[in-house]
Amino acid sequence: MTDPVTTTAAKPQSAQDRVMIFDTTLRDGEQSPGATMTHDEKLEIAELLDEMGVDIIEAGFPIASVGDFEAVSDIARQAKNAVICGLARASFGDIDRCWEAVKHARRPRIHTFIGTSPLHRAIPNLDMDQMAERIHATVSHARNLCDNVQWSPMDATRTEHDYLCRTVEIAIKAGATTINIPDTVGYTAPRESAALIRMLLERVPGADSIIFATHCHNDLGMATANALAAVEAGARQIECTINGLGERAGNTALEEVVMALKVRNDIMPYRTGVDTTKIMNISRKVATVSGFPVQFNKAIVGKNAFAHESGIHQDGMLKNAETFEIMRPKDVGLSETNLVMGKHSGRAALRSKLADLGYELADNQLADVFVRFKALADRKKEIYEDDLIALMQDSATNEKNDYMQVKHLRVVCGTDSPQTADLTLVIDGVEHTVHATGDGPVDAAFAAVKALFPHEARLQLYQVHAVTEGTDAQATVSVRLEEGGKIVTGQSADTDTVVASVKAYVNALNKLIVRRQKTAPEAMAKG
Ligand code: KIV
Ligand code: ZN
Repeated sequence: MTDPVTTTAAKPQSAQDRVMIFDTTLRDGEQSPGATMTHDEKLEIAELLDEMGVDIIEAGFPIASVGDFEAVSDIARQAKNAVICGLARASFGDIDRCWEAVKHARRPRIHTFIGTSPLHRAIPNLDMDQMAERIHATVSHARNLCDNVQWSPMDATRTEHDYLCRTVEIAIKAGATTINIPDTVGYTAPRESAALIRMLLERVPGADSIIFATHCHNDLGMATANALAAVEAGARQIECTINGLGERAGNTALEEVVMALKVRNDIMPYRTGVDTTKIMNISRKVATVSGFPVQFNKAIVGKNAFAHESGIHQDGMLKNAETFEIMRPKDVGLSETNLVMGKHSGRAALRSKLADLGYELADNQLADVFVRFKALADRKKEIYEDDLIALMQDSATNEKNDYMQVKHLRVVCGTDSPQTADLTLVIDGVEHTVHATGDGPVDAAFAAVKALFPHEARLQLYQVHAVTEGTDAQATVSVRLEEGGKIVTGQSADTDTVVASVKAYVNALNKLIVRRQKTAPEAMAKG
């Protein structure tokens, strides 16, 4: 009997079963409102992506700002294996700027795009012929600079099929080596996603000489399914982000497609080059620096993805882990034990535990973390892995050289209002103290921050999560602020929820100060 799943694949693009992983966390992911990352954070993430075996890293949008340009250039210089790609609109200026940034890479790529659907064609007010000419001119220009050129018809899934075939053919003739098919608004469904790739492979002359990529957004929750369907139809590059980070409902999640191809290799016989044991570490890093926490029940990287709480499941797991587990925690880099540490644990034990969790620390960093670990252990009897992760994330987000730091906080709360806060902040190296009142301890503490650092930013989100169980658990707090369209998210962790809240607020303000210094072009790409 034929297998209905594997036989859905039409003409394979080539005999190869290798699927390239194209990570766009630093471009499409970072474009998500509030997910802005600093220069150093981008470099660290790029290094982790390179080490884990991602094939192509889309490092940013060089024309967007000086910061983006510098991040792409530095990532290009640093990359050891991955192809480093930059995004450019269909203009010579964008493409030249992109090339200036990516040319430092051992393996550079220019990715240029234009919206081809009727709605997107109306924006630059180009008719079909004029747009076709623009595509030919810009792809040829990119190809004259770089021998690795990717072209995307933005909103491909809502573009007329004949016009899509025509534009893809033009891009191939002009020298594109990869054609990416974006589902920009997350509108397609698996069968349609596959049919589109199959149609392009069948109808477009020269289609068998290039790689087709799939780029899906998750607005209907089908991004992973759509990407895998496209692969079965012949696409050989998946565009994705860590944790599915991205605008609106996000992009295809890297960890989901990579693990799906690994776990269900029996029905999807394709290989990636990703070392899956590095997934958890990079997932935590991206959650920390983007300020977008991973939902607890998120596939693969959610806190509950490997937790078995119900009695029936636990019983089954103890007898045979495969009863309820289709992959092992260690396959994604989770250690099997949640070893408890305490105030008597020494430096060596801490170093080894952190290494298990994916944090390799230099001696001076370890000394710093050890002091914080001891302070935490004084307040909390048992330190779990999740506590250490929260501690490491807090060290990464709240740094000594931040413009503003929390020095001292005392709040008075209880049944009698008003609640009060006495706060000392170090702002640009100088200590400032204030007394403020509010409707509850967090309100009073936030009012104190605002009194010391007046600003117009609007609080969009305030979220508290307990890291572990028990009343002495650490709280992780996320604070999202918006100022003149710029959105930033701050995070912090502490056993005192109000302290964590103020630190997260100050962390968000520090990010906002950095954002204020960034310049952005008027028209940015969507997607
Ligand atoms: O979603 C999209 O269309 C994009 C393009 C810029 C490739 O991100
Ligand atoms: Zn996109």
